[in-house]
Parts: sequence; C-alpha cells; structure tokens
Amino acid sequence: MDPKLEERARELRALLQKASIAYYVHNAPILEDSVYDRLYRELQELEQAHPELITPDSPTQRVGEKPAEQFPTVSHRVPLYSLENAFNLEELKGWQERLLRLLGRTPEEGELEYVCELKIDGAALALTYVDGLLQRGATRGDGQVGEDITPNVRAIPSIPLRLATANPPPVLEVRGEAYLPLAEFERINRERCSAGDPPFANPRNCAAGTLRQLDSRVVAARKLSFFAYALHWPEGWPAGDPPQTQWECLQRLKELGLPVNPLSQVCRNLQEVAQFYERWRQAQLPYACDGVVVKLNSLRLQEEAGFTQKFPRWAIALKYPAQEVPTRIRAIVASVGRTGAVTPVAELEPVLLAGTTVSRASLHNADRLEELDVHIGDTAIVRKAGEIIPEVVGILKELRPPDAVRYRLPSHCPECGTPLVRPAGEAITRCPNPDCPAQIRGQLQHWASRDALDIEGLGEKRVAQLVEKLGVRTVSDLYRLTPEQLESLEGMGSRSSQKLVQAIQRSRQQPWERVLYGLGIPHVGVVTAQTLAQHFPTPELLAQASIEDIAQIYGIGREIAEAVVSWFADPAHQQLLQELRELGIPALPPQKSPIAAQVLAGKKFVITGTLPTLSRQEAKAWIESRGGKVTASVSRQTDYVVVGSDPGSKLKKAQELGIPLLSEAELLALDPGNPHS
Ligand code: IVH
Repeated sequence: MDPKLEERARELRALLQKASIAYYVHNAPILEDSVYDRLYRELQELEQAHPELITPDSPTQRVGEKPAEQFPTVSHRVPLYSLENAFNLEELKGWQERLLRLLGRTPEEGELEYVCELKIDGAALALTYVDGLLQRGATRGDGQVGEDITPNVRAIPSIPLRLATANPPPVLEVRGEAYLPLAEFERINRERCSAGDPPFANPRNCAAGTLRQLDSRVVAARKLSFFAYALHWPEGWPAGDPPQTQWECLQRLKELGLPVNPLSQVCRNLQEVAQFYERWRQAQLPYACDGVVVKLNSLRLQEEAGFTQKFPRWAIALKYPAQEVPTRIRAIVASVGRTGAVTPVAELEPVLLAGTTVSRASLHNADRLEELDVHIGDTAIVRKAGEIIPEVVGILKELRPPDAVRYRLPSHCPECGTPLVRPAGEAITRCPNPDCPAQIRGQLQHWASRDALDIEGLGEKRVAQLVEKLGVRTVSDLYRLTPEQLESLEGMGSRSSQKLVQAIQRSRQQPWERVLYGLGIPHVGVVTAQTLAQHFPTPELLAQASIEDIAQIYGIGREIAEAVVSWFADPAHQQLLQELRELGIPALPPQKSPIAAQVLAGKKFVITGTLPTLSRQEAKAWIESRGGKVTASVSRQTDYVVVGSDPGSKLKKAQELGIPLLSEAELLALDPGNPHS
C-alpha cells in the first residue's frame, strides 16, 4: 500500500470528522457543503479502489448494505434509570425539601444548584465507545436490558463514530436522547398518510419506531438527531481532572464531539429553575419537548443522594401540561379508505385544541377500541398528534352516562355490505371487495389529488357523482368521459363539463412519478414514488423489477419493495396499466425521449376550434418542437389546418384554398415517434 494514499485517507477522515462535529456540535460549520461533499467523494473513491483503506470510523461507513435479521439483547453496564415526575412548581419544591433533608443541609448552607435541561420527547440511547470508537448503540429497554441497534445508531449523522480526543479511555458510556425534529416528523407522517399508512401518533413513537427498523438505510433516510446528557467514565480518566458537576459533564461531552442541547443552563436556585421552565414552555422549538429535567449540579451531592429502586433522587422531570382536552363522543363512524382499511372515527362535540377546532378524532383500529372500551356518549380525552390528525387517547369512564352504548367495528362494510376481514396478526380491518364504492372513490380522489395527476375540479362530491351516476370504476374510465355525460350531473353546466374534460385530458401529460404515486400502491408516498421513478423510468421497467432490485435502492425498505411487487402482480392492476398505456399515460419522460425529430420542419399550420385533448398552447408547442410553424391566418402558404370543434371562418378559407385539414389525432400521427399516435 502506497503510504501517501494511506496518509491521504487518514487526513480526509480526520477533516471530515472535524467538519461534522463543527456542524452538529458547535453549530459553526467549517466547510461549505459542496466542499464537504467533494472531499467525501474523494475518500469514497479512494476506498473503493483500495478497500484495505476502509476503517470502521470512516464517514463513508455509516450505513450498511444488509438489513439486520433481528436485534440482539444487551445488558447495560450501567443501568438506565427513569425520572420521577413533578407536575407543578409545588411538587418541585416538595422534591427539593426531601432532598435537603436527605443531604442533611440547613437553609444557611445556601441553596442547591441545579442544571436544567430540556426533556426532549424521543428515545433514550446508550452509546459505548471502546478506545474512542463507537462500539455499540443500544435502546433503553427496561433499563437493565436493551436491544443492540448499533447499525441504526451509526446511521444518525450527529453521533460521532470516533471520539474527538487523542486519549480516549478504554470504555466510555454516553447517554442521551435520539429524537426527530418536528419538521422531519411531519414530513414522515405526510409521506405515510399519502401512502395510506397510519401516521405515527407523536415524534417519540416515530423516533422509537425508526430506531427499531431492521434496515439502517431507512434510518439514514429519516433525519434523526441526538442530544447527549450523561457520561460514565472509568476510574482514573481523564487524567488529572475528572468533571465535578453535571455542567462540566455536558462541556466534556461537547469536547468529545457529542452534540449537547445548547439551551441547557445552570440555575442557582429553584426560582431560576422556575424561570427556565416558563421561558421554554411557550417557545416554538424545532423538536417536541415535554418538560424540563432538573438535576443537582454537584456530582458529589448526586452521589450522596443516590437512587431509589427506579429513579435517581438527585434529578426530577418537571413536566409541561399536555395538549389534551376532554370532549363528548356524539357518534362513531367506520370510514373506509382507498385501500379498504376501515378506521373508526369519533365525531365529537367541537372543542378548541392547540389553536384549532376539533370535531373528529381517529380511534385507529379494533384493538384500540377494545383497549379504550369506547362507548358512544363517553367523554373522551383528545390529543393533537403533531400537526396531523387528532386522536382519542383515553376515556373518562367516571363520566359515562347510563345509556352509553358500547361501540364495535361493524362485521360488514358500511359501504358495500361485504363481510370485513382482519388477517391474523394485523391491526387493520379491511373491506376485501375491490369494487367497494368507498375504495373506488378513494382511489379516484387520490389519482386526481394535487401531488398525483393534479386534476382540478375532481373533488370529493364530483367523484361520488361519477361513481354513482356515471359508473366510473377505474382511473382509466375518467379519460373516456365526455362533456355530454358530465352535463347530466347535478350542478354541472356545459362550460364546467368542457373544463373538467379538458383538465382530465391534460393530466395525460403528467410524468411517470406522479402517475406512480397516483396508483396508490400501499406504502408508496410522494417521495418514494419519485425515488422509484428515477430508478425505473417506465411502468414496464418497474413491473419487471424484483423485490431485491427495489429493496436495494437507498431509502427504500423491504416492506415497500414487497408492496410494489405484489401490486404489479395483480392481474387487475396489469389490466389498468395496459389501459393507461393505451391512453398515453404516463407521458414519456422528456429527458428520455430524444429531442423530437424535426418531422414538421418548414411546415406551416393554422389551428381552429377546440381540440379534444390538447389546448391551443400545447398543440402549438407540439408542432414547434418538431420544427413546424403555427400562424394565425390561413393563406396559400399554409400547409395544414388543424380543426377542432366549433371551428371559425378559418375552416371555410382553408376549404376555399383546398388546404388539407387535420383532426388532432391526424396531427399527432404526423410524428410516428409520438407516444400519443
Ligand atoms: S436523565 C438518571 N436527561 O426522559 C438520569 N433524561 O423519564 C435519567 N430524557 O428515559 C435520565 N431528556 O429518555 C435525562 N436531559 C435529559 C433528558 C432525559 C429526555 C428522557 C430519557 C429518559 C426519560 C426519563
């Protein structure tokens, strides 16, 4: 091995590590993103050419290729305790009094000093560094035994793979909270909703669920973050001056390259603690925070106070009141979604909750109904989960009226009467009838939605009419609708019918990624659809892909791959794709179709009347992109006149001059390479 290359790889690793700590820990980037990316790529290429240069702490080695089979359990060297809660300042005072008594302190000895840290609502992690290298990352589990989720922990970009110290101890334990920034939580939930998956109830569940993903590439695709708050070091380290206080521990963690919440603060007495609590209670933080953790600052006093069975006596969580309110359940309806999933939804006495009026809340599924023992007429506790759908989190049984009726999911689909099914081991109850009108409506609406084919004028009401009155069953039926049919619908005039047909026809130009999203394949949301469309640029290519082909794409897990393959295997779906293909859907990707052959070079066109699918603009662009010209009036120089419905005087002129007339279809047929011909 060339020592120069070895040296270069080492330098690159060290610089990239330093840049990443500057970015995540000190919030003071030292490299532009573009520079970081270039250096990262250089290291990657070096390692590809010389795999013996790869080290486990290389920034290129964060995400593995192979999903884990399962996570081994591990015993924590130092157990992870949980915290006692205080729900108001009175309780906090009571806690301090007990602490003072325990420590045998009199008021004259001065007040106790604390460190206040925000209590981030995420999942606790225990990191073990051996000789400075991240050796293991584990969940809390029951505090004694957790799960070894090292591959996933490595995929969290702000957790250093190597400590930033020249003299690491043989073993160092770091504790902290992994969490999802709210923006990322909302992005993931939007994605899940758009893919027909139930959203995560809160950022904590989402973080915990992400950490237990078997495929670390999925973890890497969700932007988990981390704040360290505790450190356990071996006897004799660091030489000379071990930390004396919690505050020094936090500084030490930062020096080691671990991210620490910058809002932590030393408070000299309970009054300052109260101020800290109030200050951050109203703040708009970029992560979910459910209170303040108050810790005795002096490590010597911490040791003196010790632990109960479950908690440290030297720390307490002062919780923020939750965003929850009670309200009465007026009724419960079973709503059938586009995938056939049946969700019980509570209709509520409207209440104000976190700034919005809430009148419906999800009860999720049959298990949840059972667990809550929901009756119609009950007073429910409703919580707003992030920015998404409110949910019922509890029932106040004491307030149950005597005539309250217990609610169970119906045995038959409320829409089509088909017996509902619930496969063993699954939480979701489904209507198995693919012709269920609720599912058809849901699919059509999804197809027309803004992120899919974006068809204006196809709202919930209109879609219901199309299904009920005009017998629309599949999305391809939409493209066969005529203005005359639409005019027969209540509330549709001749203009609005024309416009809707045009909007539907225009949507044939939408690219494959939108069509793919619009197909409503389980687990395939907007982002996943874009990723899949990039890797498989046509429906045919995706239809031929195997589970392995799909699952190996960065950010796409096995679950998605299986859903895609099984969707394409369904003959009804193949039939649908065939029908869409005949309609020219999806339009060929512009980058794939070579610049259109100049088959119309030098030809002059005039357009008159309304064409069945193309707008005037689109027809003009189509002609011009093939070298033709479009002029406003007919003359002897005109080669063709394209005629639609309600043509003007231009048609007459063309006939007088004997100029050939074309329908839209004949026009498109002039280019044999055109996908619409
Ligand atoms: S200290 C012995 N500090 O809250 C010390 N915990 O109910 C125990 N948490 O499981 C934990 N932020 O996941 C501590 N700054 C912080 C924290 C924090 C969040 C979580 C942690 C723990 C739970 C305790």
